[in-house]
Amino acid sequence: MRSRNVASAAIAGLVAVALAACGSNTQTGDTGNANAPTTPLQTTSGGAGGDVGVFTWWAAGSEKAGLDALVKLFNEKYPNDKFVNLAVAGGAGSNAKAKLASDLQNNQPPDSFQGHAGAELLDYIDKGQIEPVNDVIKALGGESVFPKDLLDRLTVEGNIYSVPSNIHRANVVWANAAVLKKAGINEVPKDLKAWMADMDKVKASGVSTPLSVSGTWTQVQLLENVLIADLGVDGYSGLFDGKTKWDSDQVKQAVGDYKKLLSYANTASDGDDWPVATDMVIDGKAAYNVMGDWAVAEFNDKGKKQGQDWTWFPTPGTDGVFDFLADSFTLPKGAKNPGGTKDWLMLIGSAEGQKAFNLAKGSIPARTDVPASDFPAYQQDAMKAFKDNKIVSSIAHGAAVSLAWNADISTAVSKFYASKDENQLVSDLAAAAKKNLG
Ligand code: BGC
Repeated sequence: MRSRNVASAAIAGLVAVALAACGSNTQTGDTGNANAPTTPLQTTSGGAGGDVGVFTWWAAGSEKAGLDALVKLFNEKYPNDKFVNLAVAGGAGSNAKAKLASDLQNNQPPDSFQGHAGAELLDYIDKGQIEPVNDVIKALGGESVFPKDLLDRLTVEGNIYSVPSNIHRANVVWANAAVLKKAGINEVPKDLKAWMADMDKVKASGVSTPLSVSGTWTQVQLLENVLIADLGVDGYSGLFDGKTKWDSDQVKQAVGDYKKLLSYANTASDGDDWPVATDMVIDGKAAYNVMGDWAVAEFNDKGKKQGQDWTWFPTPGTDGVFDFLADSFTLPKGAKNPGGTKDWLMLIGSAEGQKAFNLAKGSIPARTDVPASDFPAYQQDAMKAFKDNKIVSSIAHGAAVSLAWNADISTAVSKFYASKDENQLVSDLAAAAKKNLG
């Protein structure tokens, strides 16, 4: 088994490669691979039977709607199996990951759990907590239906350790169309400075908090967006392999911009979950929210229409960049019902499962053979961006950094939210990098 540092460095190295190559898949086209193998893995018709306990943090609202879409199909395809919902509420796994860690530690694994492709998954692999699922990926069609670079992020020493369900974009600003109109804003701001000038206009039009934020992980995600804007793709990606120093002038500038952005935002409580911030945009209490595209599902859930009620643009300064994360599902070592787990994984990885799930979730299929024309406008744009843009890995959502490093960054960001001490944040971020990169 690879060591943590080797694995992390490998992931960082993949960032650059992934991206160019991800652009060469057929994500946007209707040119699906009709010849992809579809051989089912399980031999028992109707599924292996027994309980299949699946652990996620899709416990409520629009996220539960995505899970429900999968469960409905699972029940249809595998009537012998009984889906057991082990979801723990809290966006980005803010509560779930601690519970999962203790269940794994105590040898009480679920039958499958949600883990992010990239550095976070490597944590579980390094600890020997999950099993390879090469047979499932192969039965689903392997590289003929999943982008090779995505599979690389799930692979260690030739073994693939999870089945990806979707790809989310984390550098998106969601905006309330009526609030922008009232403030006289009709152009997409080209950089952070122009965006903050627009926020002044929003304030002048009577909305006191132009930008909405929620609890700590949403702040980490906002900071990550500013780092991408101020450091560019190479500078940002270099943060994860030691090439870019966390106490460099560019990071200091990003922290300064991040502080300015927060001065336009509401005051969040640590435990506020992401819908609190996204709903501020929906309700016209804020003009903008930086959020992953699970926000689309929230707009849909509240009956809001793209164009008429809401609009989106890449976070200013990050146009042409796709801040990537992917959910994927595992087979934990010691799972009670591995046959049932494999039924679940086959469903997650099937074209039908990916279409049903991603339509409800706001993300795009990890598979390359689900036609773009089956999806609404936002997701078609996201598919095109994933194909054409440069890809970077999300910090807040497990793609760029390990669970431990993410926890250290979150502690630093939470401390900063109270103190607003820029020098302290830079030195805490640099210390976290030193500790975790070695
Ligand atoms: C997950 C998404 C989820 C979001 C908010 C991310 O870490 O990958 O599936 O919607 O957190 O909970």
